[in-house]
Amino acid sequence: MTTNQPDLSVFETLESEVRSYCRGWPTVFERAQGSHLHDEDGRSYLDFFSGAGSLNYGHNNPALKRALVDYLEGDGITHSLDMATTTKRAFLRAFQNLVLSPRALPYKMMFPGPAGTTAVEAALKLVRKVKGREAVVSFTNAFHGMTLGALAVTGNALKRAGAGVPLVHGTPMPFDRYLDGRTPDFLWFERLLEDQGSGLDKPAAVIVETVQGEGGVHVARSPWLRDLAGLCHRHDMLLIVDDIQMGCGRTGAFFSFEEAGITPDVVTLSKSISGYGLPMSLCLFRPELDVWEPGEHNGTFRGSNPAFVTATAALHTYWTDDGMEKQTRVRGEQVEQALHAIRDEHPRLGAEVRGRGLVWGLAFADASRAAAVARRAFDLGLLVETSGPRDEVVKLLPALTVAPQELDEGLRILARSVRETG
Ligand SMILES: Cc1ncc(COP(=O)(O)O)c(C=O)c1O
Repeated sequence: MTTNQPDLSVFETLESEVRSYCRGWPTVFERAQGSHLHDEDGRSYLDFFSGAGSLNYGHNNPALKRALVDYLEGDGITHSLDMATTTKRAFLRAFQNLVLSPRALPYKMMFPGPAGTTAVEAALKLVRKVKGREAVVSFTNAFHGMTLGALAVTGNALKRAGAGVPLVHGTPMPFDRYLDGRTPDFLWFERLLEDQGSGLDKPAAVIVETVQGEGGVHVARSPWLRDLAGLCHRHDMLLIVDDIQMGCGRTGAFFSFEEAGITPDVVTLSKSISGYGLPMSLCLFRPELDVWEPGEHNGTFRGSNPAFVTATAALHTYWTDDGMEKQTRVRGEQVEQALHAIRDEHPRLGAEVRGRGLVWGLAFADASRAAAVARRAFDLGLLVETSGPRDEVVKLLPALTVAPQELDEGLRILARSVRETG
């Protein structure tokens, strides 16, 4: 379909080899609105990637953009480290009143830095300080970020190898359904905790994603999460839920752990918390865990006021009632049905459908098929990424604000891409 060859030479010569997404989507993007991106040659792409989960409310969401433009035009403060500002106050109040209080969640809020991985670092430091222990348990196929602490609790071999130093004080345990389905959940973990000869140092905490996004869209069942919370309680370990990708409504409820009815000790949020794709992250924890000394963990870019403005606007626009949650469940069913139809159309592929809310994965037995499908989808005007340890999963993260017709169009392109790569 593309006629012009995009001019990528500047990126190829000046930008590091580390770049990745631009390799799968070789074009130069210029503008975006809602669920569409447009390149400089005027081609449109339906976006089922949403900035890896950072654009749950779509690109340049009008309500958020209005609030941001008004704020900038009024010479509102942009940078303020962790000084008190009117915008931070508005965000703290909105988050407390619209998110925490209605869910009876007792958390204090910390702004650790702009990226998700900085929130994870803060969470790991805090649990270690509180418990006076070094070990943290994570799960197979977990993804928590690229800085060394977060990488130590991340599974992916390629990413871990990039560390260049030993990644220590993290121990992986089997995620839900990682084993054969016959071994009782947590049998191994609890045995190690109870056996003085096991060699497992008593962990300060366990860190978990309720749905592993980067790890290949593995969904933890609610009973598994509840059992994990119980295990943590019994063995005096804190529970961290990393809701960086699955929070802010991605699975339906604002927090992905709500469905399981658990209350983690620590929660990390980032990606869609600003609502506009502006960098922002949050570390939430029970008040009694707030043992930080002033300035003990800091950073120059902790309190981006433009991000507070759009984050507050997003909460007021989408989280004053359960409308967004209900809509996400309905849209999710639309995706699930379409993925089942694709799977059933190609029984020999042995594809597996996984997901919850509006995060879905189509896992292929032959990993190369996932890349081929994503590439064909790009040619046909749909952006989807791959995930999983072998990049074997085509992962769908449409904006929560996507229209049913847009979903339908994207799912038809996906079905065609699977067909045409056979
Ligand atoms: C669950 C989870 N935690 C942490 C991170 C790291 O966030 P960032 O890339 O903003 O550092 C990600 C990013 O994909 C993530 O999905």
